[in-house]
Amino acid sequence: MAGVPSLAGQPRVFLEHYLVMTREGIRGTELMQQVLKGVSDREIAAIARHYAALEPRAEPGPRDAALFERGRHVAQAHRCGTCHAPDYRGREQMPRLAGQREDFLLEAMLAYRENRRRGGDTIMAASLYGIAEADLKALAHYFAHLP
Ligand code: HEC
Repeated sequence: MAGVPSLAGQPRVFLEHYLVMTREGIRGTELMQQVLKGVSDREIAAIARHYAALEPRAEPGPRDAALFERGRHVAQAHRCGTCHAPDYRGREQMPRLAGQREDFLLEAMLAYRENRRRGGDTIMAASLYGIAEADLKALAHYFAHLP
């Protein structure tokens, strides 16, 4: 759904961290905090295992070749793949970017850059510091169109 991230194929550790921190009210949206109220650690571990094992299925809109190329260039220049893995599938506590929704990625990056992502890792605010909005749009387009 618009603005809602895809969970399939996210690293298990990332999902566990996200779910626990959201349940504790440290991060996530109010809606997600409500959803996770009273969910046990065991259930969270099972949820994370379930989604991590699913095959991600990207459904991006039409691809703009120039924007895609610009995104690829910006991602390389900023070495996003050193943490998110060279194919951007994510690992450990680093989320998968490849095939994620474009609208969600852009909003997440804007929120990190403007320091309004609740409970967000400061490493990401630092990674995106000074990157122009047009380049963030290119990054979102690029990642969304990766397999
Ligand atoms: C030093 C390691 C590191 C680098 C370099 C890095 N990231 Fe991240 N990134 C993370 C971590 C860790 C998270 C999860 C942060 C959190 O929990 O708030 C994250 C989260 C994200 C998210 C949120 C995705 C989601 O599903 O919530 C986006 C988008 C993102 N990174 C994009 C980028 C881009 C674009 C670059 C390069 C400009 C980049 N990252 C470089 C470690 C890194």
